[in-house]
Amino acid sequence: MNENEIIVIEDNASMRLGMAESLRRDGFKVFEFEGGAHALEFFHKHPVELVITDLKMEPMDGTEILKRIKDFQPSVSVMVVSAFGTVNTAVEAMQLGAADFMTKPFSSEELRVRVRRIIEKNKQEKTLLRLKEENTLLQDEIFKNYGEIVGHSESIRKVFDWIDRVAHENSTVLIEGESGTGKELVARALHIKSNRRDKPFVKVNCGALSDSLLESELFGHEKGAFTGAIRQKKGRFELADGGTIFLDEIGDVSGAMQVKLLRVLQEKEFERVGGEETLSVDVRVISATHRDLSKLIHEEKFREDLYYRLRVIPITLPPLRERKEDIPVLAEHFLKKFADNKSEKPKVINPAGMDLLSQYSWPGNIRELQNLLERLCVISESLQIDNTLIAQHLSGTMKNFTTGFDHLPLGEALENFEKNLIVHALKKSDHVKNRAAKLLGIRTSSLYYKMEKFGLL
Ligand SMILES: Nc1ncnc2c1ncn2[C@@H]1O[C@H](COP(=O)(O)OP(=O)(O)OP(=O)(O)O)[C@@H](O)[C@H]1O
Ligand SMILES: [Mg+2]
Repeated sequence: MNENEIIVIEDNASMRLGMAESLRRDGFKVFEFEGGAHALEFFHKHPVELVITDLKMEPMDGTEILKRIKDFQPSVSVMVVSAFGTVNTAVEAMQLGAADFMTKPFSSEELRVRVRRIIEKNKQEKTLLRLKEENTLLQDEIFKNYGEIVGHSESIRKVFDWIDRVAHENSTVLIEGESGTGKELVARALHIKSNRRDKPFVKVNCGALSDSLLESELFGHEKGAFTGAIRQKKGRFELADGGTIFLDEIGDVSGAMQVKLLRVLQEKEFERVGGEETLSVDVRVISATHRDLSKLIHEEKFREDLYYRLRVIPITLPPLRERKEDIPVLAEHFLKKFADNKSEKPKVINPAGMDLLSQYSWPGNIRELQNLLERLCVISESLQIDNTLIAQHLSGTMKNFTTGFDHLPLGEALENFEKNLIVHALKKSDHVKNRAAKLLGIRTSSLYYKMEKFGLL
């Protein structure tokens, strides 16, 4: 995020110019836009510290802009300005995460004071965040994110049994299953039900980091270990001491890192990057992957010895299509959760609609079901979500993938198919690329590469 840089979105040119000029006088770099679409496109490539947006604009209004920005980067501050300031709109904007709401007309002095206040607060929050990073706040996060694991199918009941049986052990657990099947939820449940529950649960997404970043993330580094290492940093293994470390996407770790992980698992010992002191920790290791590790071993991409170390206790999460009897309870659970968040009455799905949900194959598993229901809750104006609405949204998913490929050479048809999948995932994730990548089960960097290849960037 670029500090001291501001985007101003306002369709009234003189108003926009006036705001931009007075902020420039305060030393900020200001980018002006008369509409949301261009501003968002710019923001995706060049995130700034603060976005000031008008509320009533066509075709995209300020609330929509606010939502999309927060979705893409929750830490960015957004200030909403409006000539139609009612208490309701102000409250709504604040609930959506706006940092401030200002009613037109306002003086340039008032604008500058409010902006300075936001920027100052950001600075304080950044310092706090840095302190928290190395603190026990990691502990609170786990309780906040520990959700109930819902389901009554035979296969999910087996998972519950495993959780109860092994939570108290210190053995390493490997959770396998397709994307969106609830692997992280199970990892958190294992921690919460163990006697380590009062100690940290520390998650590392091994697939998202380069080797050198991952090494310093896991093991920490000494001051001066590499350019930019301005202070000593504790690694995740140290931070998890006494608790649990969750190594997510373990199948994406490189050969070199696999060797380093093997050593920690065997000896519970490691050194910080650039350090000489050998540290030892008491950490329970839980890892997860959506990849088929035995296949990776066969292809010599994953070490067999590490595999056996990680997989002392294997837990496999079945895909949703293999436990369709869980769909209705999961659907009800999510509808209730969304309603509780807004203190509203839960919406209901009519029986024909529930049949449709049960017939669909859910390639994105529970996450896909959850996302679809969230969208339907927002779209549906009545308390009942009916089959027509559901059919519209599901058919969009299925039709896209099969039409338009007749008589194409296989290579081209496959490319079209891949492109459609990507477009669909981007749409589903409101163009938040790391979320889309997650849905597709690929790295964000591969998504960028493919988007460029298909001219989607
Ligand atoms: N049995 C379940 N009951 C309720 N919610 C669930 C269940 N399983 C998964 N979820 C929800 O579905 C979403 C996806 O779950 P989670 O992140 O644990 O999946 P994952 O297997 O780790 O996926 P990925 O491989 O993409 O990281 C989460 O919001 C989670 O809370
Ligand atoms: Mg996960």
